[in-house]
Amino acid sequence: MSFADKRILVTGGSRGIGFAVVRAFLDAGAHVALNGRTSHSVETAIGGLDGGDRLVAAPGDIGTVAGCEAAVRAAENALDGLDVLVNSAGIISGRLIEDSDEAVWDAHVDVNLKGTFFCCRAALPALRESTGNIVNIASDAGLMGVPGIVVYCASKGGVVNMTRAMALEVAPDVRVNCVCPGFVDTDMTRRDHIEKQDDPAAVEQWLVDYAPLKRITTPEEIAQGVLYLASHDARFITGATLAIDGGTTAGH
Ligand SMILES: NC(=O)c1ccc[n+]([C@@H]2O[C@H](COP(=O)([O-])OP(=O)(O)OC[C@H]3O[C@@H](n4cnc5c(N)ncnc54)[C@H](OP(=O)(O)O)[C@@H]3O)[C@@H](O)[C@H]2O)c1
Repeated sequence: MSFADKRILVTGGSRGIGFAVVRAFLDAGAHVALNGRTSHSVETAIGGLDGGDRLVAAPGDIGTVAGCEAAVRAAENALDGLDVLVNSAGIISGRLIEDSDEAVWDAHVDVNLKGTFFCCRAALPALRESTGNIVNIASDAGLMGVPGIVVYCASKGGVVNMTRAMALEVAPDVRVNCVCPGFVDTDMTRRDHIEKQDDPAAVEQWLVDYAPLKRITTPEEIAQGVLYLASHDARFITGATLAIDGGTTAGH
C-alpha cells in the first residue's frame, strides 16, 4: 500500500496503537501529523521516529472540543490539507458501576466518543475536498458487553454506531470505518493493567486465553488494518467495522 503524498492526522499518535499507525504511514510514504495530549508527549514521540520533514506535531487535548479543533487545524496547516484522519486517542479505567462517578463517565465519553466526533467534525471540510476518509479505533468492547468496564463499553459502542451513521451522512464524498482491536500490547494493556495486578503473569495468561487465537496482539497488526481501510484498495468500504481481536467477538 502506497500513501505517497497523502496527508494523515493520527490522534493519540504519541504511544501505542496510534504510534504504530504513524510509523506505518511514514513507511508507506505519507506525510503525517502526530497528535498527543501535550506538546511534550508529541515531541517525545516524534523524536523516536525517523520522519524527517514528513512528520509534524499536532498536539491537543482530544477530550475538549477546542483541543480537537486545534489538533486538526495544526495538521491541516502543516500538511496543506488532509486525506485521512485516524482517531486513536483513548482512555480506559476499569471500574465497577458503583465506583463509576460522573467524573469517570465524563472522562471516558469526552476522550473516546466526544473527541472522536469533534475531530471528525473539524476535519470534514478538508476531507470532503480531498475525498478522503476516517478510521476510528473503537474496541471489541464496543461490540460486546464486558463487565468491569461498563463506561468504556458505552463510549466504544458509541464509536461503532457513530461510524455507521457518519458514513451514511457523508457518503459519497468521505468514507468512515472503524477498527475494533482485542487486547493489544501497549501501555493501556501492560503498564496500566497487567503490571498493576497482584499476579501479573496470571493476568497476562488470562488475556492470552481470552482470544480464540490465544495471544495478545501487537500494535503493528492493528496498524495494518487501519492502513488497509484508509487505502485505495478499500475504496468501496464505508460504515464497516473490522474486528482485529483473534476471534474474541466471533462468539462462544
Ligand atoms: N490496548 C488495547 O488493548 C486496546 C484494545 C481495544 C481498543 N483500544 C483503543 O485503541 C486506542 C489506542 O489505545 P492504546 O492501547 O494505544 O493506548 P495507550 O497506549 O494508552 O495510548 C493512548 C494514546 O492516546 C492518547 N490520549 C489519551 N488521552 C488523550 C487526550 N485527552 N488527548 C490527546 N491524546 C490522548 C495518549 O497521548 P499521551 O501520550 O499524550 O498521553 C496516547 O497517545 C484507544 O482508543 C483504545 O481505547 C486499545
